[in-house]
Amino acid sequence: MSPAAVARLVAVSALALSAAAAPTTTISAAPDAGSETADAFPPTGTAVNSSLFPPESEVGFPGPTPTGLEPAAAQTAPAYPYNEGDANQFPLINPQPHGSDAESNFDISKYWGNLSPWYSLRSADYGLPDADPLIPHGCDITQLHLLYRHGARYPTSDAAPQTFAQKVANATETGFAVSGELAFLGNWTYKLGAELLTPFGRSQNFLLGVAYRQLYGQLLNNFTEAGTLPVFRTQSQDRMVKTAENFAAGFFGVPEYLDQVNIEILVENSTVNNSGAPYEVCPNSNIKARGSIGSTVAAQFANNAFNATIARLQPQVSGINFTSTDAIAMLQLCSYETHALGYSAFCDLFSQEDFLNYEYYYDLSFYYNNGPGSPVAAAQGKGFLDEFLARFTGKYPQANSALNETFDNTSTYFPLNQSIYADATHEVVVLDTLTAFNLTALFDGPPLSAKGNRGQNSFVASKIVPFATHFTTQILSCPAYQPTKQIRFIVNDAVIPISHYPGCPEDPNGLCSFDNVVSVLQNRSSEIDFNYDCFANYTAAPGMDYNGRAPRS
Ligand SMILES: *[C@@H]1O[C@H](CO)[C@@H](O)[C@H](O)[C@H]1NC(C)=O
Ligand SMILES: *[C@@H]1O[C@H](CO)[C@@H](O)[C@H](O)[C@H]1NC(C)=O
Ligand SMILES: *[C@@H]1O[C@H](CO)[C@@H](O)[C@H](O)[C@H]1NC(C)=O
Ligand SMILES: *[C@@H]1O[C@H](CO)[C@@H](O)[C@H](O)[C@H]1NC(C)=O
Ligand SMILES: *[C@@H]1O[C@H](CO)[C@@H](O)[C@H](O)[C@H]1NC(C)=O
Ligand SMILES: *[C@@H]1O[C@H](CO)[C@@H](O)[C@H](O)[C@H]1NC(C)=O
Ligand SMILES: *[C@@H]1O[C@H](CO)[C@@H](O)[C@H](O)[C@H]1NC(C)=O
Ligand SMILES: *[C@@H]1O[C@H](CO)[C@@H](O)[C@H](O)[C@H]1NC(C)=O
Ligand SMILES: *[C@@H]1O[C@H](CO)[C@@H](O)[C@H](O)[C@H]1NC(C)=O
Ligand SMILES: *[C@@H]1O[C@H](CO)[C@@H](O)[C@H](O)[C@H]1NC(C)=O
Ligand SMILES: *[C@@H]1O[C@H](CO)[C@@H](O)[C@H](O)[C@H]1NC(C)=O
Ligand SMILES: *[C@@H]1O[C@H](CO)[C@@H](O)[C@H](O)[C@H]1NC(C)=O
Repeated sequence: MSPAAVARLVAVSALALSAAAAPTTTISAAPDAGSETADAFPPTGTAVNSSLFPPESEVGFPGPTPTGLEPAAAQTAPAYPYNEGDANQFPLINPQPHGSDAESNFDISKYWGNLSPWYSLRSADYGLPDADPLIPHGCDITQLHLLYRHGARYPTSDAAPQTFAQKVANATETGFAVSGELAFLGNWTYKLGAELLTPFGRSQNFLLGVAYRQLYGQLLNNFTEAGTLPVFRTQSQDRMVKTAENFAAGFFGVPEYLDQVNIEILVENSTVNNSGAPYEVCPNSNIKARGSIGSTVAAQFANNAFNATIARLQPQVSGINFTSTDAIAMLQLCSYETHALGYSAFCDLFSQEDFLNYEYYYDLSFYYNNGPGSPVAAAQGKGFLDEFLARFTGKYPQANSALNETFDNTSTYFPLNQSIYADATHEVVVLDTLTAFNLTALFDGPPLSAKGNRGQNSFVASKIVPFATHFTTQILSCPAYQPTKQIRFIVNDAVIPISHYPGCPEDPNGLCSFDNVVSVLQNRSSEIDFNYDCFANYTAAPGMDYNGRAPRS
């Protein structure tokens, strides 16, 4: 190396060192810091022109199009294709936490609660070390039921990140200055919309569709035999419609999904019955002291969990006093900006301990809002429970829950004999449904402590309610079993044991007699009193395992 090159190297390292040692320069914020910014594509008044650009069906000459055998990897593959969810899940960039060393391989995105991208769980973590989602030897799959969540989205309307941006914008009016780690805030603007799926989110639902075609495509032969097309359901919110479409696009192909599946869009709006949006017809779910006791206890936990980080960040800003609400908002901005923009400068601000506390914040929130600690979770999940039971038994469901009987009493909108069902919904409803199904292995242990994570309960929100989370039911024909018709439940690739269901054996593959499970779930449904839990005047508090049902005083 030439002396000049060495000198240059030294200069560069000195620069790198001084940058690492947090520059003391204080920067006055740009006047538009914290302001909301947005683009709109496509331009208004534009449309594709299919006479100038004719479609494949008009152009012709498609070349040979022989179809192969439908894939059935769940039945035929030598191993199960787990989604390992590596750090830096393509195409997102996740930094290592603040203060971690170069060898760290902590995946921050696995600690984002309902804002985590889904990744495969293992059956062993729920007590079935020998199980995986591959169809057990000696069994054939006859029917599949899938309940899945939309992929990554923008924040919901008026959520904490937007409020934080407004706080920054307000501060610019009275003098807002930043330095060191927070220098980026000086000209940071709020670039997120609301509610919509992000490009990465679309890919999650598309890939889920690809995976399920690969695993279970063979079940389409039942439709071919019957001469019918599947009905897949979703809700009317834009992201829910796009979720079902992207799933279908992955499952059937683009543009085949336009002709090969009926997508049923059920209205989600206040006072309208919809199993996918039960909170619209369950008043207690919207009463803070009953339906969102988890949010309250999570906020209390957060109030003590981020003090050290706030103390580190506060001296690097003037014009804003950070609160624990801001800490959560900035952690959420880390999650949301990563999903929407590909990376986020906010992520670098937080330590590994912060991300663990952020995860626990969501554990508390979901366990007590939509899990066993909630008095209205099972009632809200009853709609899907009853719809599953209807499909299991071939009988239209009773209208004792949020489901919409107008649709659920006709084979057009509620077919009872499909080999594949796929319903899209929200994470809160997935969790409500798992609670209604009494899948207690997901919540094994004492109720979560508001004081901090004691690690005594199997429930982790990042694992159960992430983006594109999915609950899969396999119905199997197993000549080696008695009776031969068997069923089992899978959450994000982990087989969930049901040996606590009365009459179900300890089975290493998580199997139980179909008829027995139907009868257990019918009993479960009848013990869930939708009207009482959703409408009655009762008192609930965090700290209890209610099994998702309102206490009777
Ligand atoms: C498409 O292009 C043709 C030819 O320029 C034009 O006549 C027609 O109006 C266009 N249609 C649309 C929908 O823009
Ligand atoms: C920002 O300032 C406006 C006007 O004073 C106020 O109404 C609003 O509550 C402030 N927002 C935040 C998040 O501080
Ligand atoms: C913000 O400021 C930095 C440093 O002055 C600059 O490099 C960057 O381009 C600015 N970003 C925006 C969005 O203005
Ligand atoms: C939808 O809900 C809103 C309230 O959130 C209500 O104002 C409106 O009337 C409802 N629309 C229908 C068609 O039910
Ligand atoms: C069922 O759904 C339809 C269409 O969304 C809606 O008009 C109707 O009000 C719903 N039924 C009930 C009982 O909410
Ligand atoms: C953390 O800070 C909050 C707000 O200042 C305070 O109420 C709380 O007692 C602190 N908690 C701990 C554990 O220091
Ligand atoms: C921040 O807190 C200090 C001390 O309580 C107070 O003097 C100051 O006015 C606060 N600043 C803002 C922007 O709220
Ligand atoms: C609508 O839901 C209510 C519960 O909120 C239920 O009592 C009613 O029977 C349902 N109606 C229909 C038509 O599904
Ligand atoms: C289905 O439900 C609707 C609305 O509740 C009702 O009008 C209709 O008669 C029912 N149809 C059947 C076949 O029961
Ligand atoms: C689908 O077809 C297979 C093979 O004929 C059969 O075993 C299975 O029961 C069918 N599934 C349904 C839901 O009818
Ligand atoms: C729910 O699961 C618990 C064990 O976790 C069991 O004791 C109870 O009987 C189950 N409830 C029903 C209705 O099956
Ligand atoms: C609910 O019950 C509480 C305690 O019994 C009572 O104070 C309150 O008035 C009741 N609320 C309603 C709406 O009936």
